[in-house]
Amino acid sequence: MTVDLKRPAAGATPIHAVDRATFKNLAPRLPAATRQWLATLGFDGAPDTHALLPDDKGRLSAVWAGVRDAVHPYALSALPRVLPVGPYRLEDVGLVLDDQAAALSWDLGAYVFDAYKKTRREAATLQLAPSEGATRGALVAAALCGTRDLVNTPAEHMGPAELAQAVQMAAKAHGARFKQTVGDALLKAGLPAIHAVGRAAAREPRLIELNWGSDKHPRLTLVGKGVCFDSGGLDIKAADGMRLMKKDMGGAANALGLATLIMALKLPLRLQLLIPAVENAIAGNAYRPGDIIRTRAGLQIEIGNTDAEGRVILCDALAYGAEHKPALMIDMATLTGAARVALGPQLPALFCRRMDLARELVDRGLALHDPLWHLPLWQPYHAGIESEVADIVNTGKGPMAGAINAALFLADFVPESLEWLHVDLFAWNDVGRPGRPAGGEAQTIRTLLAFLEDRFPR
Ligand code: BES
Ligand code: ZN
Ligand code: ZN
Repeated sequence: MTVDLKRPAAGATPIHAVDRATFKNLAPRLPAATRQWLATLGFDGAPDTHALLPDDKGRLSAVWAGVRDAVHPYALSALPRVLPVGPYRLEDVGLVLDDQAAALSWDLGAYVFDAYKKTRREAATLQLAPSEGATRGALVAAALCGTRDLVNTPAEHMGPAELAQAVQMAAKAHGARFKQTVGDALLKAGLPAIHAVGRAAAREPRLIELNWGSDKHPRLTLVGKGVCFDSGGLDIKAADGMRLMKKDMGGAANALGLATLIMALKLPLRLQLLIPAVENAIAGNAYRPGDIIRTRAGLQIEIGNTDAEGRVILCDALAYGAEHKPALMIDMATLTGAARVALGPQLPALFCRRMDLARELVDRGLALHDPLWHLPLWQPYHAGIESEVADIVNTGKGPMAGAINAALFLADFVPESLEWLHVDLFAWNDVGRPGRPAGGEAQTIRTLLAFLEDRFPR
């Protein structure tokens, strides 16, 4: 992390953050040489632009930085990887940048996945006086970057066991209880669907579980799809479709990121994190199209396509979570290509039985620049996932409404009485933007955290 929470040293280079309006106001009152230099560079306070100011000895004396607004989560993100390496501090010249936004945007902009390539230069450091906002910003950034790291790590080094290890480390850091049910023990524990999907892999499938918080508080259950690699199974994916499938544990990575923040910020919740973790692999004992799989909830699933594996493992985790009657259950999953066709990579799809709740979350996401978009649990389409030979089938009958079909499938394992949110996300940036480099991405964590803090006040 490159935000340094300490009183800035006098020698740190000042950064003047401005938006266009602030800069326009300010410019006429600047020293003539400064005004001229900034005009020469064409600096006008536009977001994600900056200008370096030399002193009369040719040393760096200040940075002017354009930001969208004072609370924007990516306000300073364009800077840490392009400024000359060294310490910086903020010096207000009209726009007072929010502490939390400063810390968050800096650390998100400094992020690079360099576990396998150490050649890149370091990021610049922002010295920021410790405050509640600055501390929170750095904490949130650390969780989001942790999620990115998990998604970016190749499947070879992020199998079900390594994912479990990441959860175990989080549990240890926050005094939570950790448990996992591995391999054939899944059958004894009544989690047959997770076993069926994961049994062909050389690395054993499992249900990873973390429990934290006092039982005086309302129970929140988070569920994350942890498919550490999705080959498609016997219904094997084509090369293009398989290329990014190390990220098919992106739901788990995001659920763990959110769980980490809930624990670090000590939200008044009793948290249960559930991650069904498998590799969807091919071998002689792989589950097959046409198989009928028993589930924890008792429903029998006909397998229409082994590549629709996410909903099959999630149904056991959701059923298990629901048994504990949480006040709220949220699942996050890289569940369907169809959700991406509908909304593209930047907008996770939100499914929810309550329209008012969905609208609240969509509004929050827009306000926080951590968006998600509501798609319907359209009941009439349920007919499309009904099976002739089993209770339900894991594929729709045609090519349409794939994300809705998957969500309706999950809904069958969540009692109507239970408040439930399903987030179908991409967990990836194909194209980098300031603060959001190409590669693994955390999505909807900040929005859900803000929602939980309001919904379950201290
Ligand atoms: N992991 C994929 C979904 C996915 C693909 C998410 C690409 C993000 C990007 C999932 O397991 C899958 O393969 N779903 C199939 C379902 C189909 C076989 C009914 C899909 O979406 O094509
Ligand atoms: Zn799949
Ligand atoms: Zn998948």
